Amino acid sequence: MEQLTIALAKGRLGEKALALLERCGVDGPALEEAGRKLGLQDRSGDTRFILVKPSDVPTYVERGVADIGIVGKDTLMEMSSPVYEMLDLGFGGCRLCIAGPQDALSKQEPSANLRVATKYPNVARAYYGARGVHIDIIKLNGSVELGPLVGLSDVILDIVESGRTLKENGMDVLEEVCQISARLIVNRVSLKTKGRRIKPLIEEMKKALEDTP
Ligand code: PRP
Repeated sequence: MEQLTIALAKGRLGEKALALLERCGVDGPALEEAGRKLGLQDRSGDTRFILVKPSDVPTYVERGVADIGIVGKDTLMEMSSPVYEMLDLGFGGCRLCIAGPQDALSKQEPSANLRVATKYPNVARAYYGARGVHIDIIKLNGSVELGPLVGLSDVILDIVESGRTLKENGMDVLEEVCQISARLIVNRVSLKTKGRRIKPLIEEMKKALEDTP
């Protein structure tokens, strides 16, 4: 059987993705034995898994190093990678939001651009661009909630899951940008050349999702 390479995000999303793949007949690697290895083989040798930073999953799939990948819609929106987005997998659900102190928007100087701290500069540009609002984007790589607290930004654009991080830092959701969840992405060439492996897997995943209450 031709080998399939699957890019998974390191962490919680990757673990959920692997659980779904195993329900769909993919022989998964023994993660508990993986240690810090980033490339793992299944027991049968038919499937290889690469564990990468969540924001790098689309890059591996776009470049064909991985045939398929599972990644959050937030990352896909930010990267706009030329890959096929085949399925909404339902898990990993959260919201992309504009958040900040409750009075962040009313306190803002009318003449000044809104300062938005975010890991998603392209999403922020598109969201405010569609509303004709000029913003000053401050790209951060994590702990974005600190932005308004230390006066670096007026608001943030970030993912909100439980809302705990916002609450503990005295902030609220001010606007919801969109709902997000994990997506199955496929390399454009692989869908043709390895269709015999990928298409049945997609069908199995669809069935598994229908069976999920
Ligand atoms: C994400 C996100 C928020 C937090 C939201 O950060 O950027 O900070 O989770 O989750 P909550 O609503 O359940 O509190 P992550 O944990 O990925 O770390 P980071 O700040 O380093 O990006």
